[in-house]
Amino acid sequence: MIVALNNKCNLNKNEFISYLKELENINTNHEMILCPSFLNIALFNNESNIKLAAQNVSENLNGAHTGEVSAEQLKSFDVEYCIIGHSERRKDQKEANEEIANKMERLIEEGIIPILCVGETKEERENSKEKEIIKQELEIAFSKINYEDTKKVIIAYEPIWSIGTGIIPTNEQINDIFKFIKDNYPENKVLYGGSANENNIETLKECKDIDGYLLGGLSLKPSKLSEFVNKM
Ligand code: PGA
Repeated sequence: MIVALNNKCNLNKNEFISYLKELENINTNHEMILCPSFLNIALFNNESNIKLAAQNVSENLNGAHTGEVSAEQLKSFDVEYCIIGHSERRKDQKEANEEIANKMERLIEEGIIPILCVGETKEERENSKEKEIIKQELEIAFSKINYEDTKKVIIAYEPIWSIGTGIIPTNEQINDIFKFIKDNYPENKVLYGGSANENNIETLKECKDIDGYLLGGLSLKPSKLSEFVNKM
């Protein structure tokens, strides 16, 4: 299974160096994908078994785009995966589905595997709009790449009301969404993300369609993370 670690905007240079050592000591057969901040990508030790990912990419090619980091630049640092469409960026940076479609296209051009985040807000869930929202997010994100390339994309279902809140959906809710996604995209790996931790993994792992996890808070706590992967 996949365990993707989203460090978000955490860990300064020295903190990251010692964090990486702790992470490398975690003994697991699961596929670990680390998503550090852009600066920490440059400090990553490529001799480990951990795969390298970015948390974001520019929708543009190299050129006059101040403050952006291109897919070509990520590739030159051996980045193999990249998160796109995370709900924090959709909210804080007002990223729209069309921009995410451009990012998807840039990553596919460079052979970087996109980890596409989708998921509904609390309000959308309360109004039974979750499938409509997820369908739209997926369709637009995939609109600029060809069918063969869509199969390479890792989809991460992250209900926004679950991210960082300590609340996780019921297994019934997870199974329902995973079935919906897999009915439409049967070839794609689908991760669950949102407050997954060493305590609720026992419940989450009963959901047989889950191909792995995208972990935020837990990614920063190597000993608890180690407990999590052992229980997976
Ligand atoms: P969380 O974050 O595990 O802290 O809820 C998940 C994410 O945002 O990817």
